[in-house]
Amino acid sequence: MTAIFITGTGTDVGKTFVGASLIRHLRQMGRSVDAIKPVVSGFDPDQPDASDPGILLQALGFPVTLQNIERISPWRFRAAISPDLAARREGRRIDVDDVVAFCKSAIEDRREILLVEGVGGIMVPLDEQRTILDVMMALQLPLILVVGSYLGTISHTLTALDALFRRDMAVLAIIVSETPGSPVPLDETVAAIARFAEPVIGLPRQQLEPGGRPSSGTIAALDRIFGSS
Ligand SMILES: Nc1ncnc2c1ncn2[C@@H]1O[C@H](COP(=O)(O)OP(=O)(O)O)[C@@H](O)[C@H]1O
Ligand SMILES: [Mg+2]
Repeated sequence: MTAIFITGTGTDVGKTFVGASLIRHLRQMGRSVDAIKPVVSGFDPDQPDASDPGILLQALGFPVTLQNIERISPWRFRAAISPDLAARREGRRIDVDDVVAFCKSAIEDRREILLVEGVGGIMVPLDEQRTILDVMMALQLPLILVVGSYLGTISHTLTALDALFRRDMAVLAIIVSETPGSPVPLDETVAAIARFAEPVIGLPRQQLEPGGRPSSGTIAALDRIFGSS
């Protein structure tokens, strides 16, 4: 029925947290959902449960086996640096056309909802010339942009939105996942970004395991998005 690309303004802003929360929420509503996270850097094979594919698989209700990880995340690199550099450290190179082809076939094979998590921010390099934005443009999926609430996030968010809008990318929602210890209240950050683009959804820092259900306000907003797609 629908496929959505989850991107963000950078690493560690909450893309996987939002993706896993959405998966759990959609499954509780009886929706069939799958997820892929094609490119992962900082992957530690000794701690698969804590990896992005591990977290997504647990939310999907699948065991965290190497086979399942390989199915949703074929490009995995050990170094927690940008994917092009992480690949080079292993004497490898990411073929961006292959990444696009992998995503397209997952989109075609989906039963109902497919979430695709990007990697890093919107322009993290995958090879010498191309970034994850090239993959997003090739796929033309509607986007969820996850951002933090740290001081400086408004400029980072508007810069990202500018790059996306200039390329006619569809942004379904901007989710502000609360950054711990931020001097700016979450609501004020949400209101500031909403002066420039909508809808903006605030996701408070939750005292839950990664992938816990989002707040009821967030659920209502996400339901509006999924209801209309
Ligand atoms: N709203 C939130 N509430 C609680 N923890 C969060 C929230 N957003 C992100 N986190 C946590 O912050 C860390 C980084 O988030 P993650 O989703 O891995 O970021 P990304 O996928 O963008 O790199 C993870 O430990 C995640 O569980
Ligand atoms: Mg992630």
